[in-house]
Amino acid sequence: MPRKILVATDGSDGAARAVDFAAEMAAKMDGALTVVHVLLEGRRVGAEFARMAEAEHLVREAAKTGAPHVAHLPTHLSEFFEGFDTRAQRDAMIAAVGDVIVDRAAKRARELGAGSPDTRVLTGDTAETLVDLADAEDFDIIVMGSRGLGPLKRMVLGSVSEKIVTHAHCTVVTVR
Ligand SMILES: Nc1ncnc2c1ncn2[C@@H]1O[C@H](COP(=O)(O)OP(=O)(O)O)[C@@H](O)[C@H]1O
Ligand SMILES: [Mg+2]
Repeated sequence: MPRKILVATDGSDGAARAVDFAAEMAAKMDGALTVVHVLLEGRRVGAEFARMAEAEHLVREAAKTGAPHVAHLPTHLSEFFEGFDTRAQRDAMIAAVGDVIVDRAAKRARELGAGSPDTRVLTGDTAETLVDLADAEDFDIIVMGSRGLGPLKRMVLGSVSEKIVTHAHCTVVTVR
Protein backbone atom coordinates (compact mmCIF):
# COMPACT_ATOMS: atom_id res chain seq x y z
CA MET A 1 0.00 0.00 0.00
CA PRO A 2 1.31 3.46 -0.81
CA ARG A 3 2.90 5.29 2.10
CA LYS A 4 4.60 8.17 0.31
CA ILE A 5 2.06 9.91 -1.89
CA LEU A 6 2.91 12.67 -4.35
CA VAL A 7 0.05 14.74 -5.75
CA ALA A 8 0.70 17.11 -8.66
CA THR A 9 -1.41 20.23 -9.08
CA ASP A 10 -1.56 23.02 -11.65
CA GLY A 11 -4.46 24.73 -9.84
CA SER A 12 -7.06 23.30 -12.25
CA ASP A 13 -10.35 21.64 -11.33
CA GLY A 14 -8.98 18.31 -12.57
CA ALA A 15 -6.00 18.66 -10.25
CA ALA A 16 -8.33 19.59 -7.38
CA ARG A 17 -10.06 16.23 -7.80
CA ALA A 18 -6.64 14.58 -7.69
CA VAL A 19 -5.81 16.44 -4.46
CA ASP A 20 -9.05 15.20 -2.87
CA PHE A 21 -8.34 11.62 -3.97
CA ALA A 22 -4.73 11.72 -2.75
CA ALA A 23 -5.73 13.32 0.55
CA GLU A 24 -8.38 10.69 1.23
CA MET A 25 -5.88 7.96 0.35
CA ALA A 26 -3.30 9.48 2.70
CA ALA A 27 -5.88 9.74 5.48
CA LYS A 28 -7.05 6.12 5.11
CA MET A 29 -3.57 4.62 4.67
CA ASP A 30 -1.88 6.86 7.21
CA GLY A 31 0.40 7.91 4.36
CA ALA A 32 2.61 10.97 3.98
CA LEU A 33 1.31 13.42 1.38
CA THR A 34 3.43 15.86 -0.63
CA VAL A 35 1.77 18.51 -2.81
CA VAL A 36 3.86 19.63 -5.79
CA HIS A 37 3.45 22.42 -8.33
CA VAL A 38 5.88 23.05 -11.17
CA LEU A 39 5.96 26.71 -12.13
CA LEU A 40 4.74 27.69 -15.57
CA GLU A 41 7.46 29.11 -17.71
CA GLY A 42 8.16 30.39 -21.20
CA ARG A 43 5.47 29.96 -23.82
CA ARG A 44 3.17 28.06 -21.49
CA VAL A 45 2.62 31.00 -19.20
CA GLY A 46 0.29 33.02 -21.38
CA ALA A 47 -1.73 30.13 -22.73
CA GLU A 48 -2.21 28.33 -19.44
CA PHE A 49 -2.83 31.36 -17.29
CA ALA A 50 -5.39 32.66 -19.72
CA ARG A 51 -7.32 29.43 -19.34
CA MET A 52 -7.01 29.12 -15.61
CA ALA A 53 -10.61 29.58 -14.55
CA GLU A 54 -9.52 30.52 -11.08
CA ALA A 55 -6.55 32.64 -12.11
CA GLU A 56 -8.07 35.97 -11.13
CA HIS A 57 -8.83 34.63 -7.71
CA LEU A 58 -5.36 33.06 -7.41
CA VAL A 59 -3.66 36.27 -8.51
CA ARG A 60 -5.64 38.33 -5.99
CA GLU A 61 -4.82 35.86 -3.25
CA ALA A 62 -1.12 35.88 -4.19
CA ALA A 63 -1.16 39.68 -4.16
CA LYS A 64 -2.52 39.68 -0.60
CA THR A 65 0.34 37.51 0.57
CA GLY A 66 2.69 40.29 -0.55
CA ALA A 67 4.27 38.81 -3.65
CA PRO A 68 7.87 40.00 -3.51
CA HIS A 69 9.20 42.69 -5.84
CA VAL A 70 5.96 43.11 -7.71
CA ALA A 71 5.30 46.81 -7.88
CA HIS A 72 2.03 46.65 -9.75
CA LEU A 73 -0.31 43.90 -8.70
CA PRO A 74 -3.06 43.05 -11.15
CA THR A 75 -6.62 42.95 -9.89
CA HIS A 76 -7.86 41.38 -13.13
CA LEU A 77 -6.42 38.71 -15.34
CA SER A 78 -6.51 41.05 -18.34
CA GLU A 79 -3.92 43.19 -16.58
CA PHE A 80 -1.70 40.28 -15.80
CA PHE A 81 0.65 40.61 -18.74
CA GLU A 82 0.51 44.40 -18.92
CA GLY A 83 1.12 44.98 -15.26
CA PHE A 84 4.78 44.04 -15.05
CA ASP A 85 7.66 46.26 -15.96
CA THR A 86 10.19 43.45 -15.98
CA ARG A 87 10.33 39.77 -16.50
CA ALA A 88 11.58 39.39 -12.93
CA GLN A 89 8.37 40.97 -11.64
CA ARG A 90 6.26 38.67 -13.76
CA ASP A 91 8.20 35.63 -12.58
CA ALA A 92 7.80 36.74 -8.96
CA MET A 93 4.04 36.88 -9.46
CA ILE A 94 4.01 33.45 -11.09
CA ALA A 95 5.97 32.10 -8.12
CA ALA A 96 3.51 33.73 -5.70
CA VAL A 97 0.60 32.13 -7.56
CA GLY A 98 2.46 28.80 -7.33
CA ASP A 99 2.68 29.22 -3.56
CA VAL A 100 -1.05 29.92 -3.40
CA ILE A 101 -1.78 26.79 -5.48
CA VAL A 102 0.15 24.45 -3.16
CA ASP A 103 -1.04 26.19 0.02
CA ARG A 104 -4.69 25.87 -1.00
CA ALA A 105 -4.22 22.21 -1.93
CA ALA A 106 -2.47 21.52 1.39
CA LYS A 107 -5.27 23.24 3.31
CA ARG A 108 -7.88 21.16 1.51
CA ALA A 109 -5.88 17.98 2.20
CA ARG A 110 -5.63 18.86 5.91
CA GLU A 111 -9.41 19.32 6.00
CA LEU A 112 -9.77 15.82 4.54
CA GLY A 113 -7.64 14.36 7.33
CA ALA A 114 -4.31 14.01 5.53
CA GLY A 115 -2.24 15.48 8.37
CA SER A 116 0.12 18.33 7.45
CA PRO A 117 1.19 17.77 3.85
CA ASP A 118 4.62 18.80 2.67
CA THR A 119 4.48 21.35 -0.17
CA ARG A 120 6.98 21.95 -2.99
CA VAL A 121 7.14 24.51 -5.76
CA LEU A 122 9.68 23.47 -8.40
CA THR A 123 10.95 24.59 -11.80
CA GLY A 124 11.79 22.69 -14.97
CA ASP A 125 9.97 20.51 -17.46
CA THR A 126 6.76 19.62 -15.61
CA ALA A 127 6.57 15.86 -16.19
CA GLU A 128 10.34 15.29 -15.94
CA THR A 129 10.53 17.27 -12.71
CA LEU A 130 7.72 15.24 -11.13
CA VAL A 131 9.10 11.88 -12.30
CA ASP A 132 12.60 12.80 -11.08
CA LEU A 133 11.25 13.85 -7.68
CA ALA A 134 9.30 10.61 -7.33
CA ASP A 135 12.48 8.65 -8.16
CA ALA A 136 14.82 10.68 -5.98
CA GLU A 137 12.60 10.53 -2.90
CA ASP A 138 11.12 7.06 -3.37
CA PHE A 139 7.48 8.00 -3.66
CA ASP A 140 5.16 5.00 -3.90
CA ILE A 141 2.54 6.73 -6.04
CA ILE A 142 1.96 9.84 -8.14
CA VAL A 143 -1.62 11.12 -8.18
CA MET A 144 -2.65 13.68 -10.81
CA GLY A 145 -5.62 14.87 -12.83
CA SER A 146 -6.24 13.28 -16.22
CA ARG A 147 -6.52 16.83 -17.58
CA GLY A 148 -5.29 20.19 -16.40
CA LEU A 149 -5.44 23.72 -17.70
CA GLY A 150 -4.91 22.86 -21.36
CA PRO A 151 -7.49 23.60 -24.06
CA LEU A 152 -8.03 20.22 -25.76
CA LYS A 153 -10.76 18.84 -23.54
CA ARG A 154 -11.66 16.04 -25.92
CA MET A 155 -8.29 14.40 -25.35
CA VAL A 156 -8.38 11.71 -22.66
CA LEU A 157 -5.03 12.63 -21.14
CA GLY A 158 -3.09 15.87 -21.15
CA SER A 159 0.54 16.02 -22.23
CA VAL A 160 1.86 16.14 -18.66
CA SER A 161 -0.26 13.21 -17.43
CA GLU A 162 0.57 11.16 -20.53
CA LYS A 163 4.30 11.75 -20.11
CA ILE A 164 4.16 10.84 -16.41
CA VAL A 165 2.18 7.64 -17.07
CA THR A 166 4.79 6.68 -19.68
CA HIS A 167 7.97 7.53 -17.77
CA ALA A 168 7.27 7.14 -14.04
CA HIS A 169 8.78 4.14 -12.27
CA CYS A 170 6.14 4.06 -9.56
CA THR A 171 2.37 3.55 -9.63
CA VAL A 172 0.47 6.43 -11.22
CA VAL A 173 -3.18 7.33 -10.75
CA THR A 174 -4.96 9.68 -13.15
CA VAL A 175 -8.13 10.99 -11.51
CA ARG A 176 -11.16 11.85 -13.68
N1 LIG B 1 2.60 22.71 -13.74
C1 LIG B 1 2.14 21.62 -13.13
N2 LIG B 1 2.55 21.34 -11.87
C2 LIG B 1 2.09 20.23 -11.24
N3 LIG B 1 1.23 19.36 -11.79
C3 LIG B 1 0.80 19.60 -13.03
C4 LIG B 1 1.23 20.73 -13.77
N4 LIG B 1 0.63 20.69 -15.00
C5 LIG B 1 -0.14 19.57 -15.02
N5 LIG B 1 -0.05 18.92 -13.83
C6 LIG B 1 -0.74 17.69 -13.43
O1 LIG B 1 -1.07 16.93 -14.58
C7 LIG B 1 -2.49 16.81 -14.70
C8 LIG B 1 -2.83 16.80 -16.18
O2 LIG B 1 -2.47 18.06 -16.73
P1 LIG B 1 -2.00 18.19 -18.24
O3 LIG B 1 -1.40 16.91 -18.69
O4 LIG B 1 -1.16 19.42 -18.32
O5 LIG B 1 -3.37 18.36 -19.03
P2 LIG B 1 -3.86 19.59 -19.92
O6 LIG B 1 -3.31 19.38 -21.27
O7 LIG B 1 -5.37 19.49 -19.87
O8 LIG B 1 -3.34 20.84 -19.28
C9 LIG B 1 -3.06 17.96 -13.87
O9 LIG B 1 -4.39 17.69 -13.42
C10 LIG B 1 -2.07 18.01 -12.73
O10 LIG B 1 -2.37 16.97 -11.80
MG1 LIG C 1 -1.36 21.37 -18.80
